[in-house]
Amino acid sequence: MHPPATPSAAATTHPDVLVIGGGIIGLVTAWRAAGRGLRAAVADPAPGGGAARVAAGMLAAVTELHYGEQTLLGLNLASAERYPRFAAELEESSGQQVGYRRCGTLAVALDADDRAHLRELHALQTRSGLDSQWLTGRECRRLEPMLAPGVRGGLRVDGDHQVDPRRLASALLIACERAGVTFHRSWAERLTVHGDRATGAELADGTRLSAGQVVLAGGSYSGRLAGVPEDVLPPVRPVKGQVLRLRMPEPPRGGSPLLSRTVRAVVRGGPLYLVPREDGELVVGATSEELGWDTTVTAGGVYELLRDAHELVPGITELPLVETCAGLRPTSPDNAPMLGPTALPGLHLATGHFRNGVLLTPVTGDAMAEVLATGSLPEEARPFSPARFSATAGSRPESARAPQEQPV
Ligand code: GLY
Repeated sequence: MHPPATPSAAATTHPDVLVIGGGIIGLVTAWRAAGRGLRAAVADPAPGGGAARVAAGMLAAVTELHYGEQTLLGLNLASAERYPRFAAELEESSGQQVGYRRCGTLAVALDADDRAHLRELHALQTRSGLDSQWLTGRECRRLEPMLAPGVRGGLRVDGDHQVDPRRLASALLIACERAGVTFHRSWAERLTVHGDRATGAELADGTRLSAGQVVLAGGSYSGRLAGVPEDVLPPVRPVKGQVLRLRMPEPPRGGSPLLSRTVRAVVRGGPLYLVPREDGELVVGATSEELGWDTTVTAGGVYELLRDAHELVPGITELPLVETCAGLRPTSPDNAPMLGPTALPGLHLATGHFRNGVLLTPVTGDAMAEVLATGSLPEEARPFSPARFSATAGSRPESARAPQEQPV
């Protein structure tokens, strides 16, 4: 039904769009651009990798609402609403399941401080017109009997779903290949600029690619690509997250799994979540550490996650611990993504998604494809233009300097 497309010589050497970075944001950009008839290429030594290999995949527009992030909420909700169709279309195009699960989320409080914090979140959600229901501790445990007896109350948000980010990345990779996207399995070492226009990239393997438009989607490395003029470099930094993967036992016939929905809490001031998948995987996350590009899994990180998760669901310490890993959230100064054209003609950004990369995948793909195909960002993406961080917003000095930096 979907024969693999054979890329033409032109698609290989001179695509319409070169995407630097093959994480889920780069892949969805390439896939959606190809769907608009553009010849797309992706440069990445290991496409389908990146932060999504670590992420839990919560689609938590409502439970991850923060004060001052109402504009981002609009984009998050737009993307959450698109998820069912997006997942179905991606599954159809790739022949792969992405683990989209409408299981809902329960955010609980373990002590009086947490309860007060959760009450405030509930008030903010209600003021923002969002659907969430306050439950007593007993009601929380009726929904999730394995919760600690000390749970003091919680918020039930049936609209916050989940997807499996690893499956999502694999499906996007296959969908891209089937749509004729070309892959260059090498780091992009340098952006090429001619006459004040981005024209392509030089790769670490020596390939020189020219392209009509370039999209920088290198996650937390996006601010380190050599050749990008300094005034255009995206202000992204990595925020490390350590994550555990455990395995839940098969529920007894007719019985319930250990957890049936995502459970989250703020424990000792840090957010903690347990995300149960249908296949028995239980993802426990995540630390938030500002340590540069360090992805070491530490004893302290694993200890804290297990300690806090045990406080929330004591039974988890019985489960096999099957994986520990750490990823880097690409974070912008206002925690929101940078989408669309930069002040350097021909260069776009799709980065800075911070905690919401998986959630924002559908809307990012749509917005990037639209701007690449028509030159115009759709309404919902306009507040996220990279211009908001640029003193020169839209017009840059002729003499902008290109720094010597790292490959992406
Ligand atoms: N969205 C969950 C996290 O970033 O840890």
